[in-house]
Amino acid sequence: AETTEHSHARAEFVVVANRLPVDLERSADGTQRWTQSPGGLVSALEPFLRSRKGAWVGWPGVPDVDVDEFTDEGLVLHPVSLSSAEVRDYYEGFSNATLWPLYHDVVARPIFDRSWWESYVRVNRRFAEAAAAVAGERATVWVQDYQLQLVPTMLRELRPDLRIGFFLHIPFPPVELFMQLPWRAEIVRGLIGADLVGFHRPGGAQNFLWLARQLIGLEPSRGAVGVRSRPGMVQVGDRTVRVGAFPISIDAAGLDSLSRTKAVGERAAQIRADLGDPKKVLLGVDRLDYTKGIDLRLQAMHELLQEGRIKPDEVTFVQLATPSRERVEHYQRMRGEIEQMVGRINGEFARVGHPVVHYLHQSVNRTELAAFFSAADVMVVTPLRDGMNLVCKEYVACRHDLGGSLVLSEFAGAAAELSSAFLVNPHDLDGVKNALEAAITLDPAEGRRRMRALRRQVLTHDVDRWARSFLEALGSEPAA
Ligand code: ADP
Ligand code: G6P
Repeated sequence: AETTEHSHARAEFVVVANRLPVDLERSADGTQRWTQSPGGLVSALEPFLRSRKGAWVGWPGVPDVDVDEFTDEGLVLHPVSLSSAEVRDYYEGFSNATLWPLYHDVVARPIFDRSWWESYVRVNRRFAEAAAAVAGERATVWVQDYQLQLVPTMLRELRPDLRIGFFLHIPFPPVELFMQLPWRAEIVRGLIGADLVGFHRPGGAQNFLWLARQLIGLEPSRGAVGVRSRPGMVQVGDRTVRVGAFPISIDAAGLDSLSRTKAVGERAAQIRADLGDPKKVLLGVDRLDYTKGIDLRLQAMHELLQEGRIKPDEVTFVQLATPSRERVEHYQRMRGEIEQMVGRINGEFARVGHPVVHYLHQSVNRTELAAFFSAADVMVVTPLRDGMNLVCKEYVACRHDLGGSLVLSEFAGAAAELSSAFLVNPHDLDGVKNALEAAITLDPAEGRRRMRALRRQVLTHDVDRWARSFLEALGSEPAA
């Protein structure tokens, strides 16, 4: 390998993800600017990586642009460009219309298209080559998420000296569902090139170990995988691959202090005033994605209003929905359904100047988000399936006042940690309605007790602890 040429500029620690932490935005008048990329992966990893001053390899978020490597406050950003056809086939196609629905319990039907797969292989190779060029001798390379599952093995072939970790930010599906994938063995072979393959939950790790045996004939260990402990082991030639569970989290202390600032407090009060000072404010914050169950919570609200169990002049529901993957058909359909439901609820229950549902198809900045969290009495998080869900943890981190309550789907990875929330099965609409009503009418002392327990969990299990436990298990970090 050509390890000497730019060795002065090569990084000891490299993150490889589909997206860079910043997104290139081009407006109609030709000007461009960088904004923060959407989604939980970037929210979680960015603060951690900035403190490390490593390199980040990723796509700048728009097709057909060539951007040179640049440095942003000590963090080296190494752009990988994608053509429009690759955005269509690798990103919108295989990543987000095949893998995303397949890994999220097939809540939408995955599309299996051979040309998308070919594009996925080609683009994964490009990311592997970029990582190989950026990483210094014996560096640690940490590959992220479902878009890049072939990178670990491709990178190992190019650079056997590297220590390679892989983390999946979304659920790893039950084996019966994974087995639908025509390229199932190739994916498992792609991942097994890592020294450590990490999932949010032990169940994901267990599923992967089973598939390594069934699909590629390896002989994994049989013991139960723990949380941040007892990883599974697979011997692959002379390498031992570890397979473990590492639930991701947030920069909890950072959000806690942000939420204590005067600016956030004043803005939260302003938001409540702008909403007409309702008795109770309910809040949803998500990417507009069909896995998030935004439609379900609207339906629950609608029925509660129809049944008179909540009053339109007492309760206001605010839904912030970041635009996401807008050219993928499933997303277009879900957006249409959500907007129709918002219209229907307001049509039936609003008064002039007093909508019941406030719907913003927009992304807001961190301060504004913290203010919304601080202003909300009930946080409603109802995904049909979610790898972790950071929004619920962010809400908890912002409630230093011990106010507010959390309604949380059992099918979010976070539910395993946040047992003091009102846990609901999002498929059980009556259960969701009862939980919403219970959260709205909750006795304040009981609410504080629950919030205290939630905060104890979130503030002691932050993203730094997640990253350190992963990197320790990878062997690139001394044990604490
Ligand atoms: P996902 O990664 O599937 O989008 P997560 O809940 O894990 O789901 O992470 C979503 C991230 O995006 C969180 O950090 C959340 O604060 C942020 N986010 C979601 N919706 C918005 C919005 N409308 N405005 C600003 N940030 C948002
Ligand atoms: C989830 C995925 C990330 C992805 C993010 C935003 O968090 O796990 O890999 O980056 O959603 O989605 P997008 O398609 O806009 O990158």
